[in-house]
Formats: sequence, structure tokens, C-alpha cells
Amino acid sequence: MHVSKKYLLIATILGLVYSCSNSGSEKKEQPSASTGNESGAPSSAYDSVKGAGKFTHVTLNPALDQKLAEKGKAVYDIKCSGCHKLTGEKLVGPGWKGVTERRKPEWIMNFVTNTEEMLNKDAKAQAMLEICMVKMPNQNLSDEDARNVLEFMRKNDGVK
Ligand code: HEC
Repeated sequence: MHVSKKYLLIATILGLVYSCSNSGSEKKEQPSASTGNESGAPSSAYDSVKGAGKFTHVTLNPALDQKLAEKGKAVYDIKCSGCHKLTGEKLVGPGWKGVTERRKPEWIMNFVTNTEEMLNKDAKAQAMLEICMVKMPNQNLSDEDARNVLEFMRKNDGVK
């Protein structure tokens, strides 16, 4: 059954998150503009697997789409590589190795396009924030580029 798998996944995620060592030198950035005043209690509507945002169904081909992955790499080089390595090692944010295994495609695409809300609502994002000490700024990706980056992440995780 899927539920137990989900918990396994969450346990794995927690393990990985804690490997994101606390060596960051930067301080927390601007507090979010609209702080929820309910002390972070997740609303019952929040989907912790897919995250919050416009992406509720992302369909992936089992095979890699090289074109998308190439465009995604270009986005990575310009907008993401300053904070994310492609290995499992933390830079400012967590390394991307295995990210497509620990997060659903919808979660990733929502996180990169709706970063503030996810950081406010998502327990996994908040756990990363505690360790990384920096709020990932919204990178203003188009939907298309969010998809391209996701494909590049899949490539980085060995999808062929
Ligand atoms: C200024 C630094 C910075 C930049 C630039 C940045 N990120 Fe992040 N990212 C972070 C931090 C820090 C976290 C961990 C969550 C937090 O503390 O906000 C994170 C987390 C993530 C995660 C979740 C990782 C996981 O293991 O679950 C994804 C996915 C992600 N970023 C994608 C991107 C993409 C895509 C870009 C470029 C378009 C990008 N990031 C640019 C700092 C950054």
C-alpha cells in the first residue's frame, strides 16, 4: 500500500536533510512578506507530497527528454549553480543528487515556482531551512523553465 511507502520516503528525506551539514556562513534573509500568524500549523488542505502551487499533475516519460534537460542545464548554470551542487554536498542549499527520488515532480516544480508559500507551509522545506539558514529566493522561473530544470535534475539522477 502506498501510505507506508510514503512514510519510508519521509524517513529517508529526514535522513538526507540532516546530512546537509550546518556549515553555511550566511544568515537568514528577509522574513517572508506575509507571515502566516498561526505559528506554522499546516492547514489540513496542504498536500505535503505534491506541495502547494499550480502543479497538481506532472506527467513524466520514463525516458529522458534530452532537449528539455539541456535547457534545464542552462537555467541551472545561470540561476541555481551558485547555491546548489549536483552532488549530494550542500553549498548554500542542498546538493541535488537524489532530489528527484526524495521529492515528487509536482513538489519540485511547485517549490521552484512558489518558493515562499512552500517555505511557509512545507515541513520538509522548513527542515532544510533550519539547516541551511538561508531562504531560497524565488527564482522567477517560467513554468517551462521549471519543467526544464526538473528534466535536468532527472538527468543528474541517472535517467537516460
Ligand atoms: C541563494 C541561494 C539559492 C539559489 C540561487 C537557488 N536555491 Fe534552491 N535552495 C536554496 C536553499 C537554501 C534551499 C533549502 C531550503 C531553504 O532553506 O530555503 C533550497 C532548496 C531547493 C530545492 C529543494 C531541495 C531538496 O533537497 O528538496 C530545490 C528543488 C531547489 N532549491 C531548486 C532550485 C532551483 C531550480 C534553482 C535555480 C532556478 C535554485 N534552487 C536556486 C538556495 C538557493
